[in-house]
Amino acid sequence: MPKPFYVTTPIYYVNARPHLGHAYTTIVADVVNRFHRMCGAETFFQTGTDEHGDKVVRAAREENLSPRLFADQVSEAFRTLWPKLDVEYDYFIRTTDFGHKKFVKRILQKIYDAGDIYFSEYEGTYCFGCERFYTQRELIDGKCPDHRTVPEIIKESNYFFRMSRYQDWLVDYIDKHPDLIRPERYRNEVLAFLREPLEDLCISRPKTRLQWGITLPFDERYVTYVWFDALLNYVSPLGYPDGEKFKKFWPGVQHIIAKDILKPHGIYWPIILKAAGIPVYQHLNVHGYWNVDEGKMSKSIGNVVEPLEMIDIYGVDAFRFFLLRDMVFGLDSNFSEKALVQRINSDLANDLGNLFSRSVTMVHRYFNGTIPEPDPESEDKLDEGLKKEAQRLYKEYIEGMEGFIFHKVLITLWEFINSINKYIDMNAPWVLVKNKPGKKKLKSVLYNIMEGLRLIAGFIYPFMPRASRLMGQHLGMGSGEEFQPMEDLRVWGKLKPGTSLPKSITLFPRIKPEAIQDRFGKPEIKSKFPPLKPPIGIETFNQIDLRVAKVLGAEKIPRSQKLLKLRLDMGEKKTVVAGIAEGYSPEDLIGKQVIVVANLKPTKLMGVLSEGMVLAVVDEGRYRLATLDGPCEPGMPIT
Ligand code: ME8
Repeated sequence: MPKPFYVTTPIYYVNARPHLGHAYTTIVADVVNRFHRMCGAETFFQTGTDEHGDKVVRAAREENLSPRLFADQVSEAFRTLWPKLDVEYDYFIRTTDFGHKKFVKRILQKIYDAGDIYFSEYEGTYCFGCERFYTQRELIDGKCPDHRTVPEIIKESNYFFRMSRYQDWLVDYIDKHPDLIRPERYRNEVLAFLREPLEDLCISRPKTRLQWGITLPFDERYVTYVWFDALLNYVSPLGYPDGEKFKKFWPGVQHIIAKDILKPHGIYWPIILKAAGIPVYQHLNVHGYWNVDEGKMSKSIGNVVEPLEMIDIYGVDAFRFFLLRDMVFGLDSNFSEKALVQRINSDLANDLGNLFSRSVTMVHRYFNGTIPEPDPESEDKLDEGLKKEAQRLYKEYIEGMEGFIFHKVLITLWEFINSINKYIDMNAPWVLVKNKPGKKKLKSVLYNIMEGLRLIAGFIYPFMPRASRLMGQHLGMGSGEEFQPMEDLRVWGKLKPGTSLPKSITLFPRIKPEAIQDRFGKPEIKSKFPPLKPPIGIETFNQIDLRVAKVLGAEKIPRSQKLLKLRLDMGEKKTVVAGIAEGYSPEDLIGKQVIVVANLKPTKLMGVLSEGMVLAVVDEGRYRLATLDGPCEPGMPIT
């Protein structure tokens, strides 16, 4: 029985919305988690959000929300995104959870009691605009990189974690566990940091400066900042030290992060664990950065890739496949929709999709849709060759999945796909079918092709669970089992002769490359929405009276699924009927600020007089009300 497996992603800051980078790490965690499930291990997969600290306070302020409400909203955006990317996590942690806060206090107290946390004065360069200290290296020409002002030198008393005491221990531990941090380049990077003397870590902020955090258990005047709070998330929900989960899963824990947070995870975290008396993690798996169209992904450049947008256009399987295939785990990689489309068309639609539909079609054409019984006597070198390839694939697949070399796993898998394509061409079923001995041989050939496809369906499961399931169903393997256990992928001949197969399908539709243009210059995708209407002059536009309105009341209209009757304050009180009942319930709307066309001629809808129109997006069951980015007085004209 394989050992229980526990995988984590970083907990993401709630000051940014989920993007491609977060999606990548979390999908990788899902892929390895699914792989370990296939191997028969009991698994636990945790992700979550990091919610304390001044960055969050500032982001909340910009949105006119309390840190708590703001964190609730963004955390929810992460939590609800993951299932849409077919990420099946087991536990979603928030650092604002009561249990987490309690655990952090407990560990801080333990380390404090052991003498590894001390109080001391700290002097540093502080930017009041950013509300944080900067190191000299972070400053540009001696100025804050954001505010372009010279920071002030301030003195502050704070608590420090005695990391320096553990420096030699950590170097020794990493030496003795060569694959603790992988790939190797990041292990070397950590060892290079450790060649310099390690400074003690400031772990507090006075409440006069920051309240949004966990209060230190030994000094009410301070909150902890910020890595003690964040890193302990990996342990806090497990029930340390006697909980079942802790005992079962902690020994097999693997973290996945990107290179940006290597130092906290490669240095602070093992030392915190050591100081707290908790065993160090098994592996820290570190990946590189996704750039977009050869540049850094950034909100200000406007090139942030939204995972939801990508899966809406290309499908979740294709997106997952591309991310795992096009990044060498550990190195930076470039994301472009052109590359994504190329991968979809060549690897998925062409190589795998065509092979699959062509093979199922042959079973229908030559054997009435029933998997034939192979004929052992007619087996030759080609058949043996294919089976050997399958054995090699199995071995390399396991090594690659365990070692986080996903791109190589997929290359090997596609080599196998190409081998089946070659096997078909060498055997030429369309020739074999023409005579009696050939027909006998054809049984084996088609059986072997379908058996090869069964293996592929099994191997792609962690990467593309939907395509895997669909292939399984079309190979007549039923839809009951979610995946094939690894053991079944080691052996040849699991597919049952005599099974009848549904008609062939297109697994991955081709994408027309001309649909892609330069994403961040001109529109890249030809819109799936109606073309723009003919231009109008400003005089025509000025005749439309758009106003700010506040929803005072809302109710369903009897016998109508789509319509809601809204009572609006738009300077004067009016009734408007809106077709948004499938997207909003009346309670959602009360108090909301909306935009209305206020001078639309009144008309009756389902017997209710409507005196205007509320602006909203309605697309394939998704509803979004048009609103303003801050509160306005009802009745204000929108120009
Ligand atoms: O650092 N390419 O949170 P965070 C690849 N809260 N991955 C990327 C990426 C990119 N361009 N951008 C972000 C924090 N990521 C802390 C972590 S853990 C105890 C606390 C991914 O929201 C990648 O996994 O800034 C990276 O490590 C993480 O998002 C940083 O997320």
